[in-house]
Amino acid sequence: MKGIFFITGIDTNIGKSYATGWLARELNCKGIKTITQKMIQTGNVGHSEDIDLHREIMGIPFTEEDKERITFPIVFSYPASPHLAAEIDHKPIPIEKITASSRILAGRYDVVLLEGAGGLMVPITRDYLTVDYIAEQKLPTILVTSGRLGSINHTLLSIEALEKRGIALYGVIYNSFPKSDEIIDNDTEVYLREFLKKRYPDTRFWTLPEIPLPSRE
Ligand SMILES: Nc1ncnc2c1ncn2[C@@H]1O[C@H](COP(=O)(O)OP(=O)(O)O)[C@@H](O)[C@H]1O
Ligand SMILES: [Mg+2]
Repeated sequence: MKGIFFITGIDTNIGKSYATGWLARELNCKGIKTITQKMIQTGNVGHSEDIDLHREIMGIPFTEEDKERITFPIVFSYPASPHLAAEIDHKPIPIEKITASSRILAGRYDVVLLEGAGGLMVPITRDYLTVDYIAEQKLPTILVTSGRLGSINHTLLSIEALEKRGIALYGVIYNSFPKSDEIIDNDTEVYLREFLKKRYPDTRFWTLPEIPLPSRE
């Protein structure tokens, strides 16, 4: 792996931050120098809770880039979709800041994992979607999904949205947490694996285990 990868999910709260921190840790363990970035953080002031979580999972202290806020260049206080959070804070969204930050990080690291806010169709402004940014930047994308009822539908819809815009589906991360109905969980994982094997044979499939964190017990 090399370059900037966009991490999205089938929904908000699906485990994108856990998956991003975990993949960064896995890649670093293999000697691939990896950093994470949050595209737009909402619901925080002066820090990014997602970057905090990534570092905790990666088991590293804040990096120089975190201290300079290159890894979370845009933060809004209200915990809402970026378009609304920006309006509430009366601030524009300088998209070019996101791109510039990714470039700086890509110059210093082998891999940059760029975590989006919510899913693919989340508005950045009233007439610009997350998926528009991914398409413009031509970022290979990793989709986080789960085993809960409804995930097959949301996963296939997300994959269609990527395909329609010519965005490469680099990988799918199946989050095995939380466990709900074992029969549905298992079948969802099998279904998605087989779907990808048939339709997207080059797409990787990872299973994300439950990650217990001391700070969250
Ligand atoms: N693999 C996992 N192990 C442990 N907890 C998880 C895992 N995936 C998700 N969670 C739980 O679900 C919540 C939402 O996950 P998060 O990664 O923050 O979602 P997203 O970034 O998509 O909004 C977390 O706060 C955590 O409690
Ligand atoms: Mg997150």
